[in-house]
Amino acid sequence: MVRVRYAKIPIFLLSLSSALILPVGAMATSGTMDLSSMEVKNGIQQWGEPKALTSNGNPQGGLAFHNAVVTNANSRLTILLHKSCQTLAGRVAIDPGAPASATAQFSIWKGDTRLWASPMLHKNDNPVPFSLNVGPYREVTLKVDRQSGTAFTCRCDWLDTAVTYKGRVPEVVDRPESWKRDFVPGAVWRDNNGVPIQAHGGGVLKVGNTWFWVGEDKSKGYNNFVGVHEYSSRDLIHWHDEGVVLPASSLPEEFRSTGVCERPKIIYNPLTKLYFMWMHLDAHRYTVSEAGLAIAPKVNGPFKYVAAIRPVNNSTFRDMNVFVDKDGSAYLIYAAENNATLYIVRLDRSYGAPHRPEVEGVTWARIAPGGWHEAPAMWRYGSTYYLIASHTTGWSPNTASLFTAKSPLGPWVYQGNPFNGPDSHETFYTQSTCVIPAPGHPGWFIYMGDRWNPADLGNSRYVWLPFHITKGSNHFDVDWHSHWNLKDLGTTLKAYVKSLTPGGSH
Ligand code: GAL
Repeated sequence: MVRVRYAKIPIFLLSLSSALILPVGAMATSGTMDLSSMEVKNGIQQWGEPKALTSNGNPQGGLAFHNAVVTNANSRLTILLHKSCQTLAGRVAIDPGAPASATAQFSIWKGDTRLWASPMLHKNDNPVPFSLNVGPYREVTLKVDRQSGTAFTCRCDWLDTAVTYKGRVPEVVDRPESWKRDFVPGAVWRDNNGVPIQAHGGGVLKVGNTWFWVGEDKSKGYNNFVGVHEYSSRDLIHWHDEGVVLPASSLPEEFRSTGVCERPKIIYNPLTKLYFMWMHLDAHRYTVSEAGLAIAPKVNGPFKYVAAIRPVNNSTFRDMNVFVDKDGSAYLIYAAENNATLYIVRLDRSYGAPHRPEVEGVTWARIAPGGWHEAPAMWRYGSTYYLIASHTTGWSPNTASLFTAKSPLGPWVYQGNPFNGPDSHETFYTQSTCVIPAPGHPGWFIYMGDRWNPADLGNSRYVWLPFHITKGSNHFDVDWHSHWNLKDLGTTLKAYVKSLTPGGSH
């Protein structure tokens, strides 16, 4: 995206020129800056970066309007503004390329305050104009919500949308300096080389004072073209590239470029002093569905492929995770029975195989039979075990479920949707992948989610959000934060969470 920067003019030159050439106050310049050239953050939209579209140069096709930014009908774009910005104006309409049944409502927000909303628009309705004074705001969010139909095919246009300014030429502000040390959910997250991190469906393991994040490298697309990528960090914000620690080429042929290697996770076994990477290996349209195992002497590999198995019952093994309890027992948690039921299976002491003989209720258990859950993330706090999982709608977000138990093998009790506030029914457009303790703040945890971009999977984003659990409680709220910092946990954020949820829970 092109960002316009303006050189700073030394103050003495400015005062000289205004004193000599212009009467005071007459130095005004004015103009407009259109949406496609603005810095946009937290974009949730189907079509990637905003584009200036022309009738002959439109890459999406089917669009008649000039100078539009097109989003899908479940999108949210936050634009950053500068002091000299005055009005945000434009027109909104359902795109001519959308299906006949498409309906959507456009709105503009400042934080939780709605500044403007269109009526519910249908295809072929005339564009609706808007004009807002954005002078007081440093950021506003443009939203589109669908009423019905498929969000991903319902294209919505922000036509001629631009900021006008008077006075100094506006500069769309870059990410404020302080945000470089913040978590910015949904933003592009770059490693030490400036390359976007490729660790989708990932997990984080702490070794000493360093965190290691492994996940799927989707930079070349959906299939396992690359392998499992790993990064290390001392602060969970800045990540150092450790490289591809399990290359696709080291797996059996069917799990390479025609198959998948999904949701890898690493655990450490103190008895063997080895690192065990468990993952979901699949091929032939998710019909192989096996648990893959690779082992390494060091946390950053190289990992060596060992086997692919179905842990118990010969049941399918798909979205998965690992959990190590305080007593050293390790568990695989995964979508089994063709995704209808989650299984939790205790591993043997080596962590390299399921505990044998397998006895339901003793070495393994079914969780929420027939509940259609996947993307499990399990952790423990005090004597309570927690499990977040999504439902099964492929790459599309859905409503998450929380379960709690007093022992890893259950019984697990459904506790509702832990996500809170606008977009919480879509889990803030994410799918769970892992939950880790927030360092230095007992009772605080970090939800790690994937915001999948099915049209460009390598450009899927990471959404990490903090939440607090009162010890022993079966409930908590995960709230949206457009940016946050570990140092705020327990103070600002806790006060904020309390103000939202009197009593601290649902
Ligand atoms: C999701 C799953 C992802 C991936 C995707 C493929 O349901 O959580 O890990 O398998 O389906 O469509």
